Amino acid sequence: MSLIALLQDAATSVPAPLPFFRTPLFYKSLHIFGLFLSTTSLGGIAIHAANGGTKATSRTRTLTASMFGIGMLIALAGGFGQAARLGMTNTAIFPGWLWAKIAIWIVVSVLSILPYRIPALAKPIYLLVPLLTGLAAYLAIFHGL
Ligand code: HEM
Repeated sequence: MSLIALLQDAATSVPAPLPFFRTPLFYKSLHIFGLFLSTTSLGGIAIHAANGGTKATSRTRTLTASMFGIGMLIALAGGFGQAARLGMTNTAIFPGWLWAKIAIWIVVSVLSILPYRIPALAKPIYLLVPLLTGLAAYLAIFHGL
């Protein structure tokens, strides 16, 4: 093979650099930003309910509920965006740790509606959510238990 052909071959085999908003790191940042948004909101809701507060007495009800919802959606988009960028494009090839994270995302979403409905659960939820999200982070880092 001539030198020119060799250089041309090398040039075409280098992948074009991705714009930042298509990189796994962009989706990871979105993912974590969304999780911060939703967990701080859920913490606020749980503490308010644990102290006897109700939806009616909360002056930040709309703010915390919308920040929680928007945060969880951003986290979900960031999660699936990362999965796709890492080659997990099809649910048929999703590994167990990824399904476990999706399950944790669903559980945390359900827990968010409980503090005002069942105030006795507000304090346990305040403690349980960091444990669940910590487990989800562990699963992402170690790709399993
Ligand atoms: C409450 C639930 C969740 C929490 C707390 C969480 C937390 C995290 C954290 C902290 C990371 C960064 C780990 C690292 O780079 O070292 C991460 C990565 C990731 N998360 Fe989540 N996550 C959650 C839900 C989800 C969901 C629903 C998906 C959906 C597909 C998902 C997919 C991913 C993927 C694909 C990665 C990248 C793993 C890698 O770099 O190898 N996560 N998650």
